[in-house]
Amino acid sequence: MSHLSSSVTSHLRAPNTAAVDAPEASVPADHVLVLKVIPLPGDANANGDIFGGWVMAQVDLAGSVLPARYAQGRMATVAVNQFIFKAPVRVGDILSFYAKMERIGRTSMTVNVGVYAERFNNQGRYIKVTEATLTYVAIDDQGKPREVPRQEI
Ligand SMILES: CC(C)(COP(=O)(O)OP(=O)(O)OC[C@H]1O[C@@H](n2cnc3c(N)ncnc32)[C@H](O)[C@@H]1OP(=O)(O)O)[C@@H](O)C(=O)NCCC(=O)NCCS
Repeated sequence: MSHLSSSVTSHLRAPNTAAVDAPEASVPADHVLVLKVIPLPGDANANGDIFGGWVMAQVDLAGSVLPARYAQGRMATVAVNQFIFKAPVRVGDILSFYAKMERIGRTSMTVNVGVYAERFNNQGRYIKVTEATLTYVAIDDQGKPREVPRQEI
């Protein structure tokens, strides 16, 4: 019994450092680096990988950086149009978030975000871990959509 509980405990706490990994990727030349962050042990799930909801929150923040330049004020996330977890994120990875404006509408802006990991023990080698597309809406003081003031990309 004590053997079982200690093995479960160590399994829950062990970071995933599996040798088999996703293929190397190039960071996209047509995207802009908008965020870098390092996940900590407190961001991990029971597998020892990083919790998907934590990654989604970072992507939401990263995705808002370019639209903020056009909205020039309050905005809200109206939709996550697509979100793909392509490879696990691990404790200690250096994550780089690259963004590109895809569309500017009357009140909304759509952004593509690619997330690349450098494993803590393999710096300089990028692995694409997430790809997402999100839409933000410029809002007024009442929380209603307002026109995006700056239209040119
Ligand atoms: C964002 C919000 C103000 C938009 O209000 P709304 O009355 O639904 O807005 P509209 O129907 O007039 O649409 C506004 C724009 O959003 C776009 N939009 C609305 N729903 C969308 C969807 N599901 N996907 C993509 N774009 C969408 C519309 O096409 C429109 O864009 P355009 O003006 O560029 O053509 C409102 O939905 C809201 O407050 N949502 C909650 C936001 C929030 O709390 N976000 C954080 C979630 S944790």
